[in-house]
Amino acid sequence: MNILLLGSGGREHAFAWKIAQSPRCNQLFVAPGNPGTAEIATNVPLGVTDFSGISTFIQANAIDLLVIGPEEPLVKGLVDYLHAQEGLEQLFVVGPSQLGATLEGSKDFSKQFMLRNGVPTAAYATFHTHQLEEGLAYLEKQSLPIVLKADGLAAGKGVLICGSLEEAKISLKEMLVDAKFGDASSKVVVEEFLTGIELSVFVATDGVSYKILPEAKDYKRIGEGDTGLNTGGMGAISPVPFADAAFLKKVEEQIVIPSIQGLEKEGIPYKGFLFIGLMNSNGEPFVIEYNVRMGDPETEAVLPRIESDFVDLLEAIAGGTLSSYRLQLSPQTCATVVMVSGGYPEAYEKGFPIVVPEANSGTVLFHSGTARNESGALINSGGRVFAVTGMGANLEDALAAAYATVKKVTWSKAYFRRDIGQDILKLGSK
Ligand code: AMP
Ligand code: GLY
Repeated sequence: MNILLLGSGGREHAFAWKIAQSPRCNQLFVAPGNPGTAEIATNVPLGVTDFSGISTFIQANAIDLLVIGPEEPLVKGLVDYLHAQEGLEQLFVVGPSQLGATLEGSKDFSKQFMLRNGVPTAAYATFHTHQLEEGLAYLEKQSLPIVLKADGLAAGKGVLICGSLEEAKISLKEMLVDAKFGDASSKVVVEEFLTGIELSVFVATDGVSYKILPEAKDYKRIGEGDTGLNTGGMGAISPVPFADAAFLKKVEEQIVIPSIQGLEKEGIPYKGFLFIGLMNSNGEPFVIEYNVRMGDPETEAVLPRIESDFVDLLEAIAGGTLSSYRLQLSPQTCATVVMVSGGYPEAYEKGFPIVVPEANSGTVLFHSGTARNESGALINSGGRVFAVTGMGANLEDALAAAYATVKKVTWSKAYFRRDIGQDILKLGSK
């Protein structure tokens, strides 16, 4: 197959790495890609929302399969656009329709979908710009802390957890009336705060059948001990030891099955990955959010654990034949450590030359925010720069492998958390 993959992060480098290993892959293009994908595929200078450019490229290069990494083109309707082009009606695409992508593009839509389909989630109410007074009155009656979510995409920043009523009221006004997150907060979901431990479950679906991929736990905060600002993700591990078979069975029965059946029943075309952010509250799963794509850096810890052919999996998702695909998983543990530019997630300097060693065996170095300068030297060009995945027989070994490579990658002001996975090791030793 000739395959086009859209995106430029560590997630897409991991996809490209996995696709390139398959004997089913003929040519692999990545748009726009990064210096890591350039080593294993052909990068194409096309943006992920350049719909007409993508359509032209697919026709000109006899692309058989399109894989869409990030949410933005999905939420903007790329899949529907392509399928409406002459000659592309039958194009195999991994990524949901625009309506399916609304599960991530609108928190209110996704909460309504969960309610309609009996998927356990936190109690909530939604308020529009003109409903500030109702919203403030609702807040008075809730217990604290309380969660405020911008309805639309807000680059991972649209969720506020408010510890006091005062803070919640001010934030609700800022979001609804002062457009704190622009258009994204013209609707706000006010949600009950859930306590417990978070984890993510990834599901591949062709809209009817599903396969549950390895679960993962990510580390969202910039600081060690889960302190400081939220980031796109500073690390991930898979499997998640506290997600035992009994818990995962509840996730499948109470969440995965009703979600996939809901898509089918409601006529929402969905061929792609569904990322389910969960809270484990005393052994009971609740959905925090759906994303309509794989996670980053979770993908870098999940894909190395898939042993069955990855292109076959992608083809089965896009072609609607997932029920006959046999998913085989590795029992090994993956630990991913993200290296970032100093200062991230706030302002940071770019352009520092990077020294990259050979990755140790048992580790893979995925590029994210890297670029090449005019002389071809590798430099940091984004907040999250690398995701380094170590594999091992257990979490200790996987972490040791990842950190051994991380310590050899150097550039000015590089930063990474040294405590990825430590909370899990402590839980295990209790
Ligand atoms: P989201 O963008 O919906 O994933 O929210 C970002 C983060 O906010 C989540 O990963 C959780 O850590 C936290 N969060 C969101 N909703 C809730 C909730 N109802 N209760 C507790 N924490 C939450
Ligand atoms: N790591 C969280 C995400 O990809 O949304």
